[in-house]
Amino acid sequence: MVTDFIRISRSPALKGACEISGAKNAVLVIMASTILAAGKSILRNVPVSSDVLTMIELLEYFGAEIYFDQVDNRIEIDSSTIVQSEVCPNIMSRMRASFLVMGPLLARFGRASMALPGGCSIGQRPIDYHLINFKKMGVIIEEDAYYLKATCQQLQARRLVLEYPSVGATENILMAATLTSGITEIVNAALEPEVQDLINILKKMGANISVQAPATIVIQGVEQLQPVEYAVMPDRLEAGSLLLAAAITGGEISIPNAQPHVMDVFLLKLEQMGHTIITGDDGRGIFLQATSKPQAVSFKTGPYPGFPTDLQAPMMVAQTLADGVSIIEETVFENRLLHIKELQKMGAKIEQHGTKAIVTGVNQLVGASVVASDIRASCALVLAGLVAHGPTHMTGLVHFDRGYDRLREKLTQLGGRVERFSSEILGIEDKLDQQAL
Ligand code: UD1
Repeated sequence: MVTDFIRISRSPALKGACEISGAKNAVLVIMASTILAAGKSILRNVPVSSDVLTMIELLEYFGAEIYFDQVDNRIEIDSSTIVQSEVCPNIMSRMRASFLVMGPLLARFGRASMALPGGCSIGQRPIDYHLINFKKMGVIIEEDAYYLKATCQQLQARRLVLEYPSVGATENILMAATLTSGITEIVNAALEPEVQDLINILKKMGANISVQAPATIVIQGVEQLQPVEYAVMPDRLEAGSLLLAAAITGGEISIPNAQPHVMDVFLLKLEQMGHTIITGDDGRGIFLQATSKPQAVSFKTGPYPGFPTDLQAPMMVAQTLADGVSIIEETVFENRLLHIKELQKMGAKIEQHGTKAIVTGVNQLVGASVVASDIRASCALVLAGLVAHGPTHMTGLVHFDRGYDRLREKLTQLGGRVERFSSEILGIEDKLDQQAL
């Protein structure tokens, strides 16, 4: 059996300029939204990641015709040929975000069927907020332990209240509501920048959507939406990861296409650590110069505009080498601290108490054989490897490939020593363990 692994070696301070790719969390739902507008939509700034390829596979399975220019990061999706509305279980098992086609399918065809997504390593991740609210909109849902079938004659506009501002539930209901006659309100909606990006493309398609303070999305249904050309927003999570790579290695980085206004709390925390942050006058671009004496900071993840849960793991790496003690609380996903065990193997001093981590800064990390448990943990472990003494070997690359477009190449361009290999599992794992320490 063949497996891929990444070897990360202690690297010099990362320095240089780097453009970030389109946002993974925005592009998936935006691709799903093209179902709503029969015809050919063109998306630009599309990252090349395995999740995007999976979403292409799913839309093609439905009958869409797709052309993806991976060099130009441009994708054409002709959704006029869609005939199928059943998500095949194999695709659902690879990517939970497949569930985001439910809203558009219900709005356009009045039916959607799929295997239930189930839990994953970062937590149970139920879909009750999606289902409860679709039912309130008149959808009949038949489900057993593995499968659900949703049908409706006509979606009904309602005032819907989310118990928690779930990103996926907000997006799914929002898409369904665009073609629902009357006014739908989503109260306590998620307002993550990726949700805003979805609103922007839907408005360009002709949807009538407004956002009312503090967090209500109001949708006045329209009869139909038009296909459009749209550029996906830059990935704030990739920007954060690259800023941390420079910060951790004591370097400096400029990201000309980053959007600082969607990263406020994260940038504040970097400043509190002692790093210098300069943002572009025109609202674009972030420059970071690392301090040589980083101070530990505490933070708690939360819905936007709070500290993003997707940057919790990489930010934890920065705390492992900072001066002092950091208390990190994960409030969004109940099991998103699996990277602690891997960082401990690398010499990090971290105690876990439920969903809290207490990180005491140490002088150095050491290379080890580590396993990535989810997309963001994979990035965190690569960052830790950049400063560890001795090589780090990371497996579990399926997660790394799902979430990032050429991140390894970007880190290498900045001076990071990150190499990818394929190997026979049997035999080489033992050698890796011996080499690693
Ligand atoms: C999206 C992002 C993910 C990010 C997360 C939070 C994508 C493809 N993924 O995931 O990277 O970390 O937002 O910013 O965009 N919940 C329920 N019932 C539901 C739905 C959610 O209890 O029906 C819970 C979840 O288990 C979790 C919390 O709500 O504890 C937040 O989940 P949600 O905001 O829905 O995250 P995703 O949309 O799955």
